[in-house]
Amino acid sequence: MRRLLVTGGAGFIGSNFVHHVLEHTDDHVTVLDKLTYAGNLASLDNLPRERFDFVEGDIADAALVDGLFSRVDAVVHYAAESHNDNSLHDPRPFLDTNIIGTYTLLEAARKHDRRFHHISTDEVYGDLELDDPDRFTEQTPYNPSSPYSSTKAGSDLLVRAWVRSFGVNATISNCSNNYGPYQHVEKFIPRQITNVIRGVRPRLYGAGENVRDWIHADDHSSAVLTILDRGEIGETYLIGADGEKNNKEVVELILELMGEPRDAYDHVTDRAGHDLRYAIDSTKLRTDLGWQPAYGDFESGLAATIRWYRDNEDWWAATKDHVEAFYASKGQ
Ligand code: NAD
Ligand code: DAU
Repeated sequence: MRRLLVTGGAGFIGSNFVHHVLEHTDDHVTVLDKLTYAGNLASLDNLPRERFDFVEGDIADAALVDGLFSRVDAVVHYAAESHNDNSLHDPRPFLDTNIIGTYTLLEAARKHDRRFHHISTDEVYGDLELDDPDRFTEQTPYNPSSPYSSTKAGSDLLVRAWVRSFGVNATISNCSNNYGPYQHVEKFIPRQITNVIRGVRPRLYGAGENVRDWIHADDHSSAVLTILDRGEIGETYLIGADGEKNNKEVVELILELMGEPRDAYDHVTDRAGHDLRYAIDSTKLRTDLGWQPAYGDFESGLAATIRWYRDNEDWWAATKDHVEAFYASKGQ
């Protein structure tokens, strides 16, 4: 039985990965999570205790990390400050966790010679024009725009340096925008779904022409497991499911699926430095490792996500008012 350490496993994508691993493998999972505002233990309810344990702590705590690395075979690193809007308001935690935290984990991976997979984002590549025929590939130069994406780019470069200089057995993946259950209500899709549930009109930044390349979180998890099992050490893999949509289309679809008029939303103040378009070419992952997404249809995945938020109001209700007060203070 492989023993995995999953950092950030109480967050959105990390918790989806823990559920996926426990369902599809025999692995044992230890989650290390600081339980920041974004971590929620309820996302890990009802897991088999003999195959799962939880440690509350900071990835930048070298002594804690050292002890945990000595007990596992491989590490999947999701923990991060993840929200662009927060990084524009207060960048410091992004440096502490995304840079110093990743450095701390890499030093432990080096000392204990552990397999390390680093989770990153397509935002490290900056943005594309709406009519650009090209998509991001593993060869696209780094050009991050926000404090969040620049700290993720920095963490990727640390991983590459630790592979080359110290022989750390690491891989990196850069994924596009995820949707699905357990996503914090600060993010675009859950914010709009929970607004509609509360009878509040969705909020679209600027004109709503910005394009994101949507992938279901469970497809992200299957891709990460594939890379962990079969990825080549030192390589980077882009993860995407050909799901480009502009924000206006997504809001209109949410409203339609929730039985509201498609135009019942408001335009609000745009995000500073707002990236225009992300688009992933995942040919390398599909060709070299044989991965395929399972959720082909965004509309049915979105409908299932809406049902999840309707059925799990207890999971998100306590954080909604605080999030909306933050956005209101910024005219969003
Ligand atoms: P999230 O904000 O939902 O979860 C982050 C988790 O990390 C939380 O549980 C939080 O408590 C934990 N955490 C934060 N700082 C920590 C620290 N110092 N020590 C230990 N735990 C800490 O984020 P997410 O959306 O699930 O993203 C997870 C990872 O995936 C991030 O690395 C992010 O860059 C990457 N990613 C996200 C997306 C997306 O669409 N959300 C897409 C591609 C890549
Ligand atoms: O591309 C991967 C990235 O996707 C991850 O690295 C990040 O961790 C993740 O948060 C996400 O970043 P985005 O900034 O793209 O996601 P967000 O959900 O914040 O916003 C998605 C789009 O929707 C973006 O163009 C901004 C817009 N938006 C967002 C909110 C919260 C709105 O129009 N209205 C909103 O209320």
